[in-house]
Amino acid sequence: MSTPHINATTDAFAPTCLLPGDPLRAKFIAETYLDDAECVTDVRNMLGYTGTYKGDRISVMGTGMGMPSCAIYATELVRNYGVKRLIRIGSCGAVQPEVKLNDVILANSASTDSNMNRQRFGGLDFAACATPRLVQQFLNTADANQQDIAVGQVFSTDSFYDSPASRIEQLQHMGVLAVEMEAAALYAIAAQYKVQAACLLTVSDHLLTQESLPSSARQTSFNEMVELTLSAC
Ligand code: ADE
Repeated sequence: MSTPHINATTDAFAPTCLLPGDPLRAKFIAETYLDDAECVTDVRNMLGYTGTYKGDRISVMGTGMGMPSCAIYATELVRNYGVKRLIRIGSCGAVQPEVKLNDVILANSASTDSNMNRQRFGGLDFAACATPRLVQQFLNTADANQQDIAVGQVFSTDSFYDSPASRIEQLQHMGVLAVEMEAAALYAIAAQYKVQAACLLTVSDHLLTQESLPSSARQTSFNEMVELTLSAC
């Protein structure tokens, strides 16, 4: 049965769904890495695919940018399509000097300036965390592949532009590794619906140095992250 934002059949999604923000990245992943990939939803061009990776069924679907958009798709995927494992794969802006462009960050927790989780949690501050078993799985796979990943906290913001000037200093002071725009809401939805979630991010820009990756380099580090994700799932 379709939902307002997904026009797939009820059994169209696999239990694990990768969630890039950009629907064209979902298409790219499906066409590059999956066998027998089929487009299962295309409402608003927010493309979703299901195929197999090394024989296991897996889905990938765009979420758009920001927590409200991501929350719509994550909610419908778990409530209506039986998705049990939500894996965001995205980009982030680093706020620590030791975090470099191209690094991969596994967000084990996410603070936020959004009000979405307070609304969900009766006005209280929810501790938005990745599923520990998934974190362990990613770490084991990264170790086995001799791939370095940083595990730590991120900050999920509603505002890509025009954050207060003191914000970066504050985030740095509290040990936040990077800023992105979806993880906190995704982790709260996973907790509410008792499913698993994790978020893997490549560092596309640096908020201390103002450096950013050219798009060709973004694609290379994105591919490495996707390969890690697929072999960990
Ligand atoms: N995603 C990638 N870079 C970002 C930044 N600087 N702020 C928020 N989200 C991001």
